[in-house]
Amino acid sequence: MEKFLCVQDFYEAAKSKLTKDSNGSWEYFEGIPDEGWALDQNRKAFKRYVIRPRILRDVSAINLTTTILGIPASIPIGVAPTSKQALFHPDGECGVARAAGRSGAIYVLSTLATASIEEVAAAAPKTRLWFQLYYQKDIEVNKDLLIRAEKSGYEAVVLTVDCQIPANRLGFKRKPWKLPEMQEQQVPEDMDPSMDWNVVKWIREQTKMKLILKGILTGEDAKLAVEHGVDAIIVSNHGGRQLDSVMPAIDVLPEVVASTKSSNVEVYLDGGITLGSDVFKALALGAKMVFIGRTALAGLTVGGEQGAAKVLEILTNELDKTMALAGVTDLGSNISSKFIQNYKPFLSSDY
Ligand SMILES: Cc1cc2nc3c(=O)[nH]c(=O)nc-3n(C[C@H](O)[C@H](O)[C@H](O)COP(=O)(O)O)c2cc1C
Repeated sequence: MEKFLCVQDFYEAAKSKLTKDSNGSWEYFEGIPDEGWALDQNRKAFKRYVIRPRILRDVSAINLTTTILGIPASIPIGVAPTSKQALFHPDGECGVARAAGRSGAIYVLSTLATASIEEVAAAAPKTRLWFQLYYQKDIEVNKDLLIRAEKSGYEAVVLTVDCQIPANRLGFKRKPWKLPEMQEQQVPEDMDPSMDWNVVKWIREQTKMKLILKGILTGEDAKLAVEHGVDAIIVSNHGGRQLDSVMPAIDVLPEVVASTKSSNVEVYLDGGITLGSDVFKALALGAKMVFIGRTALAGLTVGGEQGAAKVLEILTNELDKTMALAGVTDLGSNISSKFIQNYKPFLSSDY
């Protein structure tokens, strides 16, 4: 793993490995609908922001700690819920959850995981775990998942709100995914397209876990989420896997942050994060934490648990260096949108 110095090294090795698989794992990893515009723009959008560094500040000690939902967290980076991790490496969800714990990152387990709620909790007892819910048509399945997650010590339920129907993912049609033998998906993919804001109230009545909505892209919905008493919001376009023609997550972050300003609702972001400087930009624009999806999976694919831990280590070190070079020593009052400006090149060919 020594030769892997940046996340891009992991992406290249992961692509080269998965495209050789016959089981559709690369198509699943990419997962793009239509033209793959949103996936592409999620990454490019970060390049349209640059950092306004401040100088001659003592940066000999950089503090990456924060608090998430009232509990201290050692880094502002978490692992986003991604389904079927056994497609990429036998270590699967248990390995990535352990890697997250080693790095001080929160791990979000997908409803469509290839390890159970209980197995992941037992495999990663030191990791802060959240459970992502795809609200199912059968209400008893939802109840059972919530009860089991709460009983197993998961702190929060992350309700995904941008996937009531699956998108038109062409790769899945061209090369359908197939799980390795002995690996099972825990829950059938039977999402309820009639889900509405009543489900948010219903979940509150079922569980004491914190409630987070994942997949908000507008200030209007962020306001409604605040009114419905959620604890946090993840600004996300599902890594460009759902509606293709939408804004990159980083571009709508300021709008969502502004809509939640007078509340205690925390705002997080995912989509397109491959560098520590991406994390810095999101935090400066108002996110309390970011999540990584494919970046964690690239680590898993290449090196199992160790690979996932290594990408988290790389991102953390890059964030630490970015903060020091930008003159930011901590993530409290020290970081703000004053450290960011839009990139306006002189020539259109500079884009
Ligand atoms: C292979 C894969 C599977 C995913 N499965 C889920 C899922 O089960 N539930 C969910 O809410 N989001 C899922 N997502 C979306 C991620 O949680 C996250 O929003 C996205 O990956 C962030 O973008 P990034 O990959 O550019 O970091 C999945 C993403 C990928 C790449």
